[in-house]
Amino acid sequence: MKATAIANTNIALIKYWGKRDETLFLPMNSSLSITLDSFFTVTTVEFCKNFDKDVFFLNELQATDKESNKVFIFLNKVRDLAGTNLHARICSENRVPTAAGFASSASGFAALAAAATRALELQLSEKELSMLARQGSGSACRSVYGGFVEWQKGIQIDGKDSFAKQILSEKSWDISILSVLLVAEPKKVSSTEGMKRTVKTSPFYSGWLSTVEKDLEEAKEAISSRDFEKLGIIVEANAMKMHATMLGANPPILYWQKGSIDVIHHIHKLRSEGIYAYFTIDAGPNVKVLCLPKDEKIVYESLLSLTDVQEVIICHPGSGIKYLE
Ligand code: PMV
Repeated sequence: MKATAIANTNIALIKYWGKRDETLFLPMNSSLSITLDSFFTVTTVEFCKNFDKDVFFLNELQATDKESNKVFIFLNKVRDLAGTNLHARICSENRVPTAAGFASSASGFAALAAAATRALELQLSEKELSMLARQGSGSACRSVYGGFVEWQKGIQIDGKDSFAKQILSEKSWDISILSVLLVAEPKKVSSTEGMKRTVKTSPFYSGWLSTVEKDLEEAKEAISSRDFEKLGIIVEANAMKMHATMLGANPPILYWQKGSIDVIHHIHKLRSEGIYAYFTIDAGPNVKVLCLPKDEKIVYESLLSLTDVQEVIICHPGSGIKYLE
């Protein structure tokens, strides 16, 4: 009763920010992402009647209690689905070029959901797997699929209509996503806490909610017509708007560091010189830059010349979940 799965991480183009249900991980708004080819998690789950407790190894070390608890709580959901109370041994490896800074709960929970369900011989559809992964970390529901992926927020209270689906395969449009590493430390405010505080206290949150679905429609139109400039403009504006909602929270949340702002200005400068590059930033200081493959080299080299930039890793659209036999 053992299986191994690989899931790539994803970067949101239109962000998920805010939960309407904390237990089921139901979002306030729909979102859109690209699955990345270069950052992934490989997870092996083994269930056995001889195991007297769950154990979780992360990058070959026994995980902390905090990390383990999240994983065991998630595993209980899988055990409930399968009607079993067997304990498991979980080994997870985050294959990211740098030790910290890019590790992602999206690839982690997508790989865990896939490996655990396969080990228990549960036959889940991709849609069901997406709904399950969502309950480990919201953004994980998008990492089930490759390419361009939409997570429909759904309206039901049981979450049965809140899952992701692919809108364009990774082979249909190649764009470059440059991950710019500025700070490799774990963030002080988790995305869970950041979302909660923003929804509860930010006067700007209603503005986010009343405009984000339109942003999503525009981004989808840009993807379907392969209009990179249109996509870039909306992606950048959506990220700025998400961060603006957090600045309005009480107490305010600021994920950016000096280097993040330097990259923002640098991207604006590149555009003024005729290079179509756009940025997006998640709940942390590091920046992702989108550009066309023909401009990849010049954007890469120019980013590396900035003082606070430690590393730049080039990614392209990647595939959905894969299993190792
Ligand atoms: O799923 P979480 O808890 O890692 O939250 C993801 C939040 C953002 O990365 C900021 C946005 C997103 O849609 O991925």
